[in-house]
Amino acid sequence: MAQVQSVSLDDERARQTPRSRELYARAQKVFVGGVTHDGRSMEPHPIYVARAAGPRKWDVDGNEYVDYWSGHGALLLGHNYPPVLEATVAQLQRGTHYGACHELEVRWGELVQQIVPSAERVKLLSSGTEATMMALRLARAFTGKSKIVKIQGHFHGWHDYATIAMQPPYDEPIARGIPRAVAGTMIGVPFQDVAAVRQVLDADPDVAGLILLCNGAGTEYLQALRDLTRERGVALIYDEVVTGFRYAPGGCQEYYGVAPDLTTLAKILAGGMPGGAIGGRADILELYRFHDDEQKNRFGRIPHPGTFNANPVSAAAGIATLEIVRDPAIQRKAAATADEIRAGFDEVLRRRGVEGQAGGDVSLIGIRLPKARVPARQLTYRFRAAMQVEGVDLSGLSLIVSYVHGPREVDQTIHAFDRAIERLQGEGTL
Ligand SMILES: Cc1ncc(COP(=O)(O)O)c(C=O)c1O
Repeated sequence: MAQVQSVSLDDERARQTPRSRELYARAQKVFVGGVTHDGRSMEPHPIYVARAAGPRKWDVDGNEYVDYWSGHGALLLGHNYPPVLEATVAQLQRGTHYGACHELEVRWGELVQQIVPSAERVKLLSSGTEATMMALRLARAFTGKSKIVKIQGHFHGWHDYATIAMQPPYDEPIARGIPRAVAGTMIGVPFQDVAAVRQVLDADPDVAGLILLCNGAGTEYLQALRDLTRERGVALIYDEVVTGFRYAPGGCQEYYGVAPDLTTLAKILAGGMPGGAIGGRADILELYRFHDDEQKNRFGRIPHPGTFNANPVSAAAGIATLEIVRDPAIQRKAAATADEIRAGFDEVLRRRGVEGQAGGDVSLIGIRLPKARVPARQLTYRFRAAMQVEGVDLSGLSLIVSYVHGPREVDQTIHAFDRAIERLQGEGTL
């Protein structure tokens, strides 16, 4: 029985998505593993998307999906929100790269400065990975120390330092190719454990910074970290690549009311185009300044290159987005929609007798299914497949809700979840 139903989900997907399957076969001959971002991998094949608008997208076979990837979190206003689309297209017609300073970069930076509470100064980069890598360098350069404390399991992109303390055993990087010397500069501690941070700082005088995601962190924890890091001269870094402009216009630091020394930003920052930024204390960002003294220039600053830094198209999309999302009504509506989805999912789980919960904060939803009978990766694939055949696409067990998801999407999503859970129970996954 379990086997028959399992086959039927795969059969149904195969019937719905023949062109995606063909493209995946081609992709596997080009890209090792078939995909261009690990998070998009899926068995037996991912869907290939042809276009998107608002809260929805369509695959190459013409299937329509309510989209909860939301551009990996970049699209708080959904796909092609008209003012953002207009600004982006208009800028494309004026040129994509000037190799020069331009007015839009100034406006973009000013908006970050106005919206993000701790951003006394700003530098624009091209991605979240670049922003966190730069934040660690700033912390090290400013303090003259070399180690960084991070939280076990927190994702900060894919540069060498970010590969450490991701999965047990936490001192082993999740990637091969990381020099031992690099790994040795990163110290992982558990989330919500102030004593563990204090213990590290007591034992090691060479700590330059503490970086963390502040999703669900709470004011008390952040304040304790703020006090401790300030007392020890350690730079406190919030990675707000996801939470920036989403928890509140000013991100987690506004939501919880505790400011870091440095903040990393990307995703919503650039309105669906590539972009990243670092914002923070003016005295720390002074490290970028050129000096007349050649010795100081050579040995006393941090260079800031990057071909696509502040590219005009990203700047145009970013400005149009930030001008809109600086209104907290945007975040509130997305969070209220997420609350409706959470309530609907929890009702389905209760009614179907499945242990689990739809958690997460504001417009970020994370589903917990602790009694699943398959390993986590397989659960993710089965769940996504079961939701896709019902017309909903999401990233693993999480949903990123936008301002433009409305009542029709909520109803469709809860209905899809009900059918998906029934199906996964039927095939023995749950
Ligand atoms: C919290 C966080 N930091 C950093 C990054 C890396 O950003 P990017 O993918 O733009 O390099 C991500 C990406 O998802 C992220 O979620």
